[in-house]
Amino acid sequence: MNKDDFVIELPDFQFDKERLIEFMNSDVLGDWRELLHFPMKGLSNEFNLGSTFLMEGGGYMLKELETKHVEYVRHIYDRVNPNILLWAQMALRPANFLKYPPYMKLAKHKDRLRTGSIHFPLGPGEPTNFYDDDYNLLYQHEHNGNPVIMHTHKYFHGVDNKDKERYCFQITLKHPWELLHEWNANGTLYKS
Ligand SMILES: [Fe+2]
Repeated sequence: MNKDDFVIELPDFQFDKERLIEFMNSDVLGDWRELLHFPMKGLSNEFNLGSTFLMEGGGYMLKELETKHVEYVRHIYDRVNPNILLWAQMALRPANFLKYPPYMKLAKHKDRLRTGSIHFPLGPGEPTNFYDDDYNLLYQHEHNGNPVIMHTHKYFHGVDNKDKERYCFQITLKHPWELLHEWNANGTLYKS
């Protein structure tokens, strides 16, 4: 198990958490909407909508940014590789806020339309669990308050939330995992 295959930690990426929370709670993005995350294989998938599904696939709340909203979070985008901003300015849905209700279980799934994301924790939260294709736990990422890039395209992942609401901001990434590592290695992934 090589941790670098699951996450790229960005320990020196200082960000204005309060400013992000203020934007999240403003009227700009409208109300939260609830989404269900369907697992893609195993016992609890969309072909099995019994109690297992309800237990594993509870809804989470989402606020998506549109292209026009990128300017509201330029204080973040100005700190990351310019290619990430360039893509965001052309994307329909470049980033999002997520809220996991207490005791929600984010069903194990892979992200199909993105490599992963830059994940900014906006408070305390349960770890993100990574699994192989047989749902064996491979790696558990404890969110320590720092941003982290997670390889959620390659690996099944999920969250077992506990008693607190879990909030985060995520910048969508379409970039190859190897390129993100390359940028990190040569110091062009983000400005500390
Ligand atoms: Fe995901």
